[in-house]
Amino acid sequence: MDKKTIIPDAIHRYLARQQLRWYVFFITVLVTANSYFKRVRMSHENGITCRGRIRIVDNPTFPSHNLFIPGREFDARVRHAAASWTDDAKLVVRSAAIKFADDRFESPFDVMMNSGDVPLFWSARTFWQFMKGTMAGRGKGWVPYLRSHPQAIVGGADSVRRDPDTFAQMVYNTKTCLGFIGDDGVYRYARYRLRPADFDGKETGLPDGQDRAMPWLQNPYPEETRSRNYLKDELISRLNIEGRAVEYMLQIQLRRRPGPDQPEPEWVTSEYPWDDSVHPWHDVAVITLTEALDYTEAMKTWFDMANHPESLPVPLGVSIDDPHSLNNLRLASIWARKARLLTYKHRGMPKKFPDSRAAADWTGVPPMANPPG
Ligand code: HEM
Repeated sequence: MDKKTIIPDAIHRYLARQQLRWYVFFITVLVTANSYFKRVRMSHENGITCRGRIRIVDNPTFPSHNLFIPGREFDARVRHAAASWTDDAKLVVRSAAIKFADDRFESPFDVMMNSGDVPLFWSARTFWQFMKGTMAGRGKGWVPYLRSHPQAIVGGADSVRRDPDTFAQMVYNTKTCLGFIGDDGVYRYARYRLRPADFDGKETGLPDGQDRAMPWLQNPYPEETRSRNYLKDELISRLNIEGRAVEYMLQIQLRRRPGPDQPEPEWVTSEYPWDDSVHPWHDVAVITLTEALDYTEAMKTWFDMANHPESLPVPLGVSIDDPHSLNNLRLASIWARKARLLTYKHRGMPKKFPDSRAAADWTGVPPMANPPG
């Protein structure tokens, strides 16, 4: 008999919400404890924070909005990072997090993006499954999840980057849906991306066929001689020594949200990108990076999805399979950020990790059969 005929819809919805609450609570406790006891960002530990400016474009082609006023300027911080491992030469997802203020915490708007168009997980349920692989040591720990969710392999293959020349020549996407309420009062869903201002369509670091087929084999090539910090060093040298600014364009894609009495459309999932011939990208702002911050200031900066005006709401999920449920988790993960900053106070700032792969802290992906058994 259909479950719905036994459990009335209202009870079913209530139970689904309770299950999501439990997931959020449990996952938040784990990531918060991890941040405190290991003194790390739960993810994206390996990164660099820069200072710069944001200037909203003069003639926006998207509906007018009270934050994105033409010509308006903001101070900014942007942090580039690798989502996992502490080695710039590993095959990893790269990121850009933007703060519309030059501040450690506060800002009118923070937005976080990763390389690639589609992520490795697309709901609280899939995030938890992915997280179990992470706790099992990544590498082969991820393989069962990737195998049982072919979509996750698509996301992994699409998002990892190997040996990029610079953070400044990659494209970063929010992937999940955010809210956008224009001056016309219409609620739309939004996705953002950051790309080089003069983008020629060629991203650095794109994975080859082998890396796309097995994105869990993340070790650097055996002949790798560059520093573990080469990518961050490139940005420091460019900004702080050569004085060559980095210029990006922040762009937005918008789609109308259906009315409150209509079901959420399938396209809110981050499993696939929105067709940009139908939902074009609009320029929002030029973002210029001028200075790389010192290590301590960079480490003491966090990015928080809760930093947004009312007119850029964060859609929330109602079950663990709702694509918006990732946002429930991300908002709750402020506790992990607080724990990270607190542990620096209690136990001191962790040391910068060394350049050498011979250093004791360097770990490779655990050896595994190929293909993993
Ligand atoms: C597709 C979805 C997601 C995207 C695009 C994303 C993006 C990012 C980015 C770019 C960062 C680095 C921020 C920085 O440079 O400081 C980050 C860090 C982090 N993310 Fe996510 N994330 C996603 C999902 C999640 C989920 C589901 C959780 C749930 C717990 C989460 C928890 C965290 C935490 C705890 C940090 C470290 C924050 C810190 O200690 O400062 N993220 N994420």
